[in-house]
Amino acid sequence: MVADDGTFSGTSEAVFILGLLSNKLQAPATTNPCQQFYTGSLLGQSVVVAISGIGPEASALCSTYIAECASNVKDFIYVVRAAVCFTQLGGALNAPGDCAPHGFTTQTRIGDIAVTPFSVNWQCKLASWNEQCTGYPNICTYPTEEAGPLVRSLYGQCVFSSKTAANTALADEVLAAAKTPLFAANVLKLQADFNATLLAYETTYWNLTAAGMGVNYPVLPAWTGPRLLDYTQSAEIDAQFFFSGTPWDMVARNYTALTLNLANNSTLTQYDVTAVNAEEGIGVSAALDAHNTLTGMPKIKYTFVRGASDYLYAPPLEVSPGVWEDNPAVPPTNFDTQYLFAIQTTSTLILTFFQLRCQAAGNSASTCAYTLPALP
Ligand SMILES: *[C@@H]1O[C@H](CO)[C@@H](O)[C@H](O)[C@H]1NC(C)=O
Ligand SMILES: *[C@@H]1O[C@H](CO)[C@@H](O)[C@H](O)[C@H]1NC(C)=O
Ligand SMILES: *[C@@H]1O[C@H](CO)[C@@H](O)[C@H](O)[C@H]1NC(C)=O
Ligand SMILES: *[C@@H]1O[C@H](CO)[C@@H](O)[C@H](O)[C@H]1NC(C)=O
Ligand SMILES: *[C@@H]1O[C@H](CO)[C@@H](O)[C@H](O)[C@H]1NC(C)=O
Repeated sequence: MVADDGTFSGTSEAVFILGLLSNKLQAPATTNPCQQFYTGSLLGQSVVVAISGIGPEASALCSTYIAECASNVKDFIYVVRAAVCFTQLGGALNAPGDCAPHGFTTQTRIGDIAVTPFSVNWQCKLASWNEQCTGYPNICTYPTEEAGPLVRSLYGQCVFSSKTAANTALADEVLAAAKTPLFAANVLKLQADFNATLLAYETTYWNLTAAGMGVNYPVLPAWTGPRLLDYTQSAEIDAQFFFSGTPWDMVARNYTALTLNLANNSTLTQYDVTAVNAEEGIGVSAALDAHNTLTGMPKIKYTFVRGASDYLYAPPLEVSPGVWEDNPAVPPTNFDTQYLFAIQTTSTLILTFFQLRCQAAGNSASTCAYTLPALP
């Protein structure tokens, strides 16, 4: 399942998968609550390809529809690019505390991929009616919070950290596919696109970050493939707005750490994780977790595969001691190229996953081969 039919970024998130689907049949829109619903065969395997539409309500409705056929569902993968708030592990600038540059940590590159079954609703915060983020426009202040994502009385369920052996096993299979030479070879075909459309933007972004923070960020190596984040480092944080920058990134990482700690009895903090900002995970989780509690119904294994499509905040700039603002020199996000690239890397990972299953079923490498189709 994917979210966007192309309305937002100009490229349908299903475009490459649909281009490779044989025996493709589309169900009429009036027969189901998904935006588009197809059946067919992908590298020799029977699949449904659904476009849910954007937002948690749409993804929950479409997931619930699919859950009605649970006995026919082997695995459920929600695969999309994300508007991302993650630029580096643990963030570039941090509060509470001394509000100082975090220093160099692993940077996120456009096209990097998070594979995680966990999600948390960002909207579950501030319980009072009129509170603003204190300190604006100084971005190095930690937003005030009176409630938080554990307060169900006001917001309903916000944290989706339930884990079954099955759904981490599905994420593990996707992560393992990303470690194969087959994936490395498939994804290297995207290098020319990265160089042509993203390298200059990325270089400028990190140059501004390094200069603004006064921290040495080593020059990134030539792009040869996405970095994979797993479910011990990342969760999807859902918001139906684009929150502005660094303060909200701090909170997003705090919620992410909380969610992962609940999932795995760990003691992560906001400095240890990457938050992946998107909209649909909580809808899928609400629908499928509810389904999975039903007695007498086969459980559905699910995971999210999210590609990094943009940096959600500008490089911070210290304008006077202790006062940080968004660097106005940040180049604008190019939604067309950045989102397309994240769709290319995530589609390549899913297709490699299907290739490996195709080969494991005893088919020849040529039967299981594919080439990413040209855009229609
Ligand atoms: C992409 O750029 C890197 C340097 O960043 C270079 O090593 C590589 O050969 C280029 N690849 C293509 C396909 O242009
Ligand atoms: C980035 O910084 C390096 C080293 O300071 C410099 O050589 C390069 O020209 C800069 N590139 C851009 C696009 O600003
Ligand atoms: C739980 O934590 C352990 C130790 O860090 C890790 O090996 C394992 O993959 C984690 N499992 C989940 C579901 O996060
Ligand atoms: C969770 O971790 C704490 C200490 O880190 C330990 O005391 C407790 O037994 C663990 N609980 C489970 C269910 O593993
Ligand atoms: C989240 O932030 C709150 C408030 O600052 C703090 O008490 C808590 O320890 C943080 N949790 C994590 C997991 O970072």
